[in-house]
Amino acid sequence: MFKSFLWLEEVSSTQQVIRSLPHRSLVVANRQTSGRGRQGRLWHSQEGGLYLSFSLPRGIKDEGTLPLVVASSVADCLESLGFLPAIKWVNDVYLRGKKVCGVLVEGLKDKILVGIGINLNQEGFPPDLEATSLRLISGKTYNKVDFLLTLLDFLSAGLDKLERLGFQSFKDSIENRLLFKDAEVILYIPEPRVGILQGIGEDGSLLLMTQEGLKRFQVGDITLRPL
Ligand code: BTN
Repeated sequence: MFKSFLWLEEVSSTQQVIRSLPHRSLVVANRQTSGRGRQGRLWHSQEGGLYLSFSLPRGIKDEGTLPLVVASSVADCLESLGFLPAIKWVNDVYLRGKKVCGVLVEGLKDKILVGIGINLNQEGFPPDLEATSLRLISGKTYNKVDFLLTLLDFLSAGLDKLERLGFQSFKDSIENRLLFKDAEVILYIPEPRVGILQGIGEDGSLLLMTQEGLKRFQVGDITLRPL
C-alpha cells in the first residue's frame, strides 16, 4: 500500500513531515510536539498514542468522504480487537462516549494528506479533553507495531473498497455506528443549528431534521443538545 515508510521518535507533526515526501508515503511518530487537529485545534500527542500520516494521489473516487471512510476503517480495526466503536461525524472514533481517535484530511494541489491519532496506551488525559485510550478501557497494553500492522490492513481494505464500490458501500455500516443518531444535536458551522440527527447522505453529508425540514450539511462539529 505504501512506497516509503518512516517511524520517528518525535516530530512537530506527522502532517508536516508527510508534506515533503512523495505520495503513498507513511510517517509514524511516538510523540508530536505540535500535533494538529481539525479547525486549527491542537492534538494532544504524548507518549503512548500512535500518530501517523500517509499521502494519497488526488483524484481517488469519492475523495471528499475520506474522513468518514478512514474513521470507519479505524472502527473496523477496533471492533476486530473486541471494542464497540462509534463514529462521530465527520472524522472521530469514540469508545464509551469518549474520543479515542481523530482523523485529519488535508488536500494539497497534487496529493491528499491523511493523519490519524489513536490513543492506545495513555493512562490519563486532561479532563477537558473527554478522551479515552484502548488501555483505559480494556486494561491491556498494546504493542504499537502489531496495532499498526492490523490498522494498515483495515485501512488498505477500506481504501480499496472506496475505489471499487464508492462511498455508498460504507453508508449503512457508518450509520449503524453513528454517535448521537436519532438524538437532538447542535451542529456548529460555526453558528449553531439544532436538529434531530437522521443519518448521513450518499455523499457523506450530515442529515439533520430541523424546524425548516430535512437539511444536509457538509461541515461542522456536532454536540448533544444540553438539556
Ligand atoms: C481531530 O480530531 O481534530 C483530528 C486529529 C488528527 C490528529 C492526527 S495525529 C497524526 C497526524 N498529525 C497531526 O498533527 N495530526 C494528525
